[in-house]
Amino acid sequence: MNAQATSHQSSQPVAVVGAGLIGRAWAIVFARGGHPVRLHDADAATMSGSLAYIGERLKELEAYGLLNDPAEVVLARIRCEPNLADAVRDVVMVQENIRETVEAKKAIFAQLDALTPPEAILASSTSWLPASTFTADLAGRGRCLVGHPTNPPYLVPLVELCPAPWTDPKAMERAHALYEAAGQTPVTLTREIHGFLLNRVQAAVLNECFSLFEQGLASSDDIDKVLKDGLALRWSFMGPFETIDLNAPAGVTDYAKRYGQQNRETVVDVQPFGWGDDTLARVDAERRKQLDIADIGTRSAWRDRRLMALAAHKRQAPTH
Ligand SMILES: NC(=O)c1ccc[n+]([C@@H]2O[C@H](COP(=O)([O-])OP(=O)(O)OC[C@H]3O[C@@H](n4cnc5c(N)ncnc54)[C@H](O)[C@@H]3O)[C@@H](O)[C@H]2O)c1
Repeated sequence: MNAQATSHQSSQPVAVVGAGLIGRAWAIVFARGGHPVRLHDADAATMSGSLAYIGERLKELEAYGLLNDPAEVVLARIRCEPNLADAVRDVVMVQENIRETVEAKKAIFAQLDALTPPEAILASSTSWLPASTFTADLAGRGRCLVGHPTNPPYLVPLVELCPAPWTDPKAMERAHALYEAAGQTPVTLTREIHGFLLNRVQAAVLNECFSLFEQGLASSDDIDKVLKDGLALRWSFMGPFETIDLNAPAGVTDYAKRYGQQNRETVVDVQPFGWGDDTLARVDAERRKQLDIADIGTRSAWRDRRLMALAAHKRQAPTH
């Protein structure tokens, strides 16, 4: 997370539509960034449960030094709105987080386009759907875009901004500025591509990990160690381009002269993994020896605490 998340109350309300796993996490991000947040969900029970959940997360964030204001002040910025029109009538941005189908996104974006102030940004958290699949017919399609978070966005700050072909570049710039001011790390795609950036990189890494396992070259636990005790230690504060820039005395072109050919040969050798049941069952059997399925929740809570400690470290030592 960036250090610049403000401690000042913003006068710019943001609506978060869909208060499930990702929506409630976005509510934390925008409220922590100082925005009044209108949180809306079609399901009354989800709405009523969300504030208690958010309150618990805010106490944890406060304990790790990841809030600029007291947890109760941040929580008080969030207001649940059972009526969509009330939730969005005066906002500068809507962050949409409902279920992942084109039909559902089309329906909610048509409502949002009709109910919001004309200059409000309409951003979708969609993981895989390009904005062009659900905004084509809208009068206000120029203000629609994807703002894809990484779960949970209050700990992992990356937001991928992806325009439809008709998205106004000014809308992209305004969304970029708004996310950044709220403490996130926005990155911008120039055009739509399946999986945006993060899921494409993750898919490539997963493909190779499964493939190496399938070929019997190492256990799943050892392949995990290649990341967690190898590559990913550097990757938590610099990306692969900067990594290779530092791995040869004269930078990236020097690296390419020394190791480019080996990299080309390795990529030619990569086997596509078909996500077949047999291999998945063998990975699952190894994983279940490491972690009983009943302990997934406990281990996930442990992961979030480690992420909080890492986020606190990165906040004290920004990488830019
Ligand atoms: N789960 C993740 O790790 C993750 C990560 C990044 C992006 N996303 C994206 O975020 C979005 C939400 O995912 P999630 O995991 O939070 O799902 P979820 O099922 O936890 O939450 C969806 C919520 O939307 C509500 N909803 C459905 N239709 C609605 C409507 N018309 N109006 C208002 N509320 C409505 C549901 O009641 C539910 O509470 C999806 O597009 C998903 O692809 C998810």
